[in-house]
Amino acid sequence: MNTITILLLTFILSVTGLFVFIWSLRKKLFDDNPAAANVIFTEGEIGKVEEPAATQAQHAALQRVVDGSHDGIDDPERDARMKAELDDRLRADGSTKYVTFVFLSCAVVWLIFASTAGLISSIKLHQPDFLTEYAWLTFGRIRTLHLNAVAYGWAPMAAFGIAIWTLPRLLKTELMGGRFALLGAMLWNAALIAGLGSIAAGFNDGLEWLEIPWQIDILFVVGGALIGLPLVFTLQNRKVEHLYVSIWYMGAALFWFPILFLVGNLPGVHFGVEAATMNWWFGHNVLGLFYTPVALASVYYFLPKIIGRPIQSYNLSLLGFWALAFFYGQVGGHHLVGGPIPSWLVTLSIVQSIMMIVPVLAFSVNQHLTMRHHFKTLIYSPTLRFIVLGGMMYTLSSVQGSFEALRSINTITHFTHFTVAHAHLGLYGFFSLVMFGAIYFVMPRVMSWEWPHPKLIALHFWLVVLGFGIYFVGLSIGGWLQGVAMLDASIPFMESVRITIPYLESRSVGGALMTLGHIVFAIHFVSMALRYGRKRVGPALFHRHGADAGQVTRPVATEA
Ligand code: HEM
Ligand code: HEM
Repeated sequence: MNTITILLLTFILSVTGLFVFIWSLRKKLFDDNPAAANVIFTEGEIGKVEEPAATQAQHAALQRVVDGSHDGIDDPERDARMKAELDDRLRADGSTKYVTFVFLSCAVVWLIFASTAGLISSIKLHQPDFLTEYAWLTFGRIRTLHLNAVAYGWAPMAAFGIAIWTLPRLLKTELMGGRFALLGAMLWNAALIAGLGSIAAGFNDGLEWLEIPWQIDILFVVGGALIGLPLVFTLQNRKVEHLYVSIWYMGAALFWFPILFLVGNLPGVHFGVEAATMNWWFGHNVLGLFYTPVALASVYYFLPKIIGRPIQSYNLSLLGFWALAFFYGQVGGHHLVGGPIPSWLVTLSIVQSIMMIVPVLAFSVNQHLTMRHHFKTLIYSPTLRFIVLGGMMYTLSSVQGSFEALRSINTITHFTHFTVAHAHLGLYGFFSLVMFGAIYFVMPRVMSWEWPHPKLIALHFWLVVLGFGIYFVGLSIGGWLQGVAMLDASIPFMESVRITIPYLESRSVGGALMTLGHIVFAIHFVSMALRYGRKRVGPALFHRHGADAGQVTRPVATEA
């Protein structure tokens, strides 16, 4: 099987996807009825905020802000009906607790490891003599360890953890076969440890994002399949007719990823420029068709839940999903602008990159309109801050990416630190911030425990926002200057390197603040896991409509 056959197969797969789309429309699984946006709420729940990471005072203040834009909902009979639905939700939460906890704990461990490796790599770029005594600490290896620890450690562990928690809730059923997912998590982490070990020892497959030797990849495939199985079982066992947009995003991501991973890692098939083409077909699709949809699904679920308001336009959310599904698959070629591959392939990828503005705007307008009149909630909801800012970074990174794909701009930015700044805007500013927010929401439900030190959430937020701001702004300026200098034949190459040094130093400062933020987050996570602080008092699913700070009444459901 050669690369062309594989590309043809992926084309057939896209067409199959189109048929699935048409079939789903006929089956009304994908309802364009605006009322479908309400399915994530139980009856009477709209207008009630849900923010498990907020203190009681913050929660009451949050509710007061939202009260201004909703009618009161005092109706005891309706409360009784709600209780039944909430009991279902508690059962769904109960079934995912353990599995979610395992995935999120692994994510936190990999986050710390990856950040440390990233910081070491960063320092080495302006202090080349730093930590040179061991081969595995040289830039080429530690940088690759950083990338693989985020790409196969932090990001997928967080994504799987959040998907496993959210899907049963959305499908109003319990997680089926959670044990498979646990076994899968064990295999996946064993594979990652082996993969990082081999990279550290100097063995790798020589393709960026696909460095881990293919023999180890087999373990990932088996582990990933075991993680996916319970989600398929749960889908089959669903108790809802309509599939909310988050299910589509998460479901599609969990279907796309194994295909990408398998095709990208097939040994003995891709050679030369075909290998490069496949490399970036994988590289960008893993970003756009795996991490991105899981994060978008999370925004579409958590944002409305927190502010107690359905998304503004359900139709726009559908447009966003299908436009992403149709356009993202072909953008990978923009990583090879100027490379020795057919120019039609690059041009196609540039066109598709620009077309990506459609789903991105659909999402951004929707998020903005949903938050309109509710921006004050950001003051009181720690979770929302991460999620809304992350959502904004999606817009920013994608619009930036669309322009970065243009030949005129890519000629300047391609071989520079500008690309790295963009990479972090996407995978950090967007994906990671949304995941932090989702974890802050989910963990109190998973542990039935309060976050012990709410101030640490704020500290985490400000450290990473400030750190990332320094990282991104500095590196973007430095990268651009570097690109301009490299294109100027009158400037010696070393000058283009020297120009970047102050910006590389600023990246280390920003990166150190981000790493510190992650350490704060990890300490907080561990202290919750060890049950420091307080058990959740009372229901905390809802607080009284307009209740005074600290008072919890109308216990429509108690937490398991
Ligand atoms: C529609 C939206 C987007 C477009 C059109 C786009 C476009 C681009 C372009 C043109 C590059 C530089 C290629 C090069 O010169 O080497 C790039 C790199 C990158 N982008 Fe995006 N981007 C988009 C969204 C995102 C998002 C949402 C993420 C993260 C979730 C992301 C993550 C990355 C990463 C990690 C790289 C660096 C890859 C590497 O060199 O290792 N991008 N993107
Ligand atoms: C969860 C957090 C993080 C994520 C998701 C992340 C993601 C990434 C990605 C996708 C790349 C590849 C970029 C490319 O090739 O264009 C990368 C490279 C890099 N990252 Fe991170 N990163 C994170 C945290 C950090 C931190 C805290 C630092 C500390 C300074 C850092 C420093 C670096 C460095 C130095 C590189 C190599 C850049 C190069 O090859 O020139 N990263 N990171």
